[in-house]
Amino acid sequence: MLPEKKLYVTGSVMQELQQIIREEQPHINTVLMAHVHELPPLARPVAEHVLSAGGKRLRPLLTLLCGRMLGCGHKDLYLLGSAVEMLHAATLLHDDILDNASLRRGRPAAHTVFGATKVILAGDALLAKALCMVSSLGDTRLTSCISEAVMQTAEGEIAEFAHLRDLALPQEGYRAIITGKTAWMLRAACELGALRAGVADEQIAAVALFGLELGIAFQKVDDALDFSPEAQTGKPMGGDIKEGKVTPPLLFYLASLPPEEAEAFRAAFMAGTLDEDEVARVSRAIVDGGHAQATRDLAEGHLTRAAASLNECPAGDEQRILGQMIQYIRQRTR
Ligand code: FPP
Ligand code: MG
Repeated sequence: MLPEKKLYVTGSVMQELQQIIREEQPHINTVLMAHVHELPPLARPVAEHVLSAGGKRLRPLLTLLCGRMLGCGHKDLYLLGSAVEMLHAATLLHDDILDNASLRRGRPAAHTVFGATKVILAGDALLAKALCMVSSLGDTRLTSCISEAVMQTAEGEIAEFAHLRDLALPQEGYRAIITGKTAWMLRAACELGALRAGVADEQIAAVALFGLELGIAFQKVDDALDFSPEAQTGKPMGGDIKEGKVTPPLLFYLASLPPEEAEAFRAAFMAGTLDEDEVARVSRAIVDGGHAQATRDLAEGHLTRAAASLNECPAGDEQRILGQMIQYIRQRTR
């Protein structure tokens, strides 16, 4: 059992997580780039653009740590983790087109550099390659796991699109969107490691739930960070308002406004007529009014449940570092 205090590790203890990120990144990148070089020539520069933008490779790291925690030291973990990272990259390429986003991790979004056609095709190639990588291991449980995650990701994104500018979106609707578009891929990253370790079904379920709860928390923190300055996050401040996304900080802000002001804001948001200055002003009001923090607080229940699932897993270095991953997501500033 993981003692309760380990769930709230200090900044210095998180150095262990930073250290493993530094150690494993080159190994993950070697496997990842070997597979990127097998992509059709049109897709390669696009894939390199999105994959070289400084991501921490959290998803492959989750696969490695979950697999090792359950006794698997096989190099297949790198292949599985890299496949999840390629899928993640594919979703970001497509997402930035759908969101008409200009920046990703402080760099021009791929479609602004290569054009939408090449980027859609590169995303398709990355998606297909990732599925080939997983199915090359010949284990239908691994293939089903990743296929289900792709399906859920697409469903989450479709649900989000269906509810753009829908201020009547109920909490369960928001939860279904973020569970699909973000959490399922983190769940798969963890579950693939557990499946490769060949452990009992209950253990696999605990690891999958850990990943899912971590993923929901990740997106809630992301939705809070959307209102932080661009220089901090590498993404335009208030992008979600411009894109018409209905997230908790926006709803908290609306609820805090006097009725007349709320009505004017609702009308402008629903019509998509808020200008840049207004988006910047609202973003600052969301942070200053404590609505971004209130959204981060919503992530706590998920992080607690992630920790409880982790407690059902074998104690040791990997379990401890996965506990630090919980802390990392809690404290994330970009
Ligand atoms: C980011 O959300 C979006 C995702 C994590 C999922 C995107 C999914 C798709 C485009 C559909 C499925 C595609 C494939 C290839 C399976 P966000 O826009 O809130 O975050 P952001 O601010 O980082 O862009
Ligand atoms: Mg987006």
